[in-house]
Amino acid sequence: MERSWFRPRNAVGFSHTLIGMIAGEGDTVVDATCGNGRDTLFLARLVGPRGKVYAFDIQEQAINNTRRLLQEHDCLEQTVVILDDHRYMGRYIKGTVRAAMFNLGYLPGGSREIITIT
Ligand SMILES: C[S@@+](CC[C@H](N)C(=O)[O-])C[C@H]1O[C@@H](n2cnc3c(N)ncnc32)[C@H](O)[C@@H]1O
Repeated sequence: MERSWFRPRNAVGFSHTLIGMIAGEGDTVVDATCGNGRDTLFLARLVGPRGKVYAFDIQEQAINNTRRLLQEHDCLEQTVVILDDHRYMGRYIKGTVRAAMFNLGYLPGGSREIITIT
């Protein structure tokens, strides 16, 4: 089987590849831990201006960094950035969610003490 297209560089790249296979233009997707916004930006570009990304984080620094990155790349329009625990996502999301990303760990550049504990 030809797999030359399938070369994710790391776990995040692998998750982007998988999400790119099931979600696309106009879909609703979730970034459960937006951090510095890199995954949110990937999702916002994937779904485009007709889609919707709901992005959550519990740290204000993460929310600000994500909003700034999206603004720089003209992708704020299709994104709702929410300062809240992703366990409450059901309170915010409207419509059917096509895919969700949970990039767990600490905020790069932030406190290593603040992580998700399930
Ligand atoms: C590894 S970072 C995410 C990286 C991010 N997706 C990016 O592209 O930069 C993990 C983030 O999860 C957030 N987090 C931890 N527990 C959370 C929770 N229960 N709900 C929402 N965010 C949470 C942390 O604040 C941290 O910013």
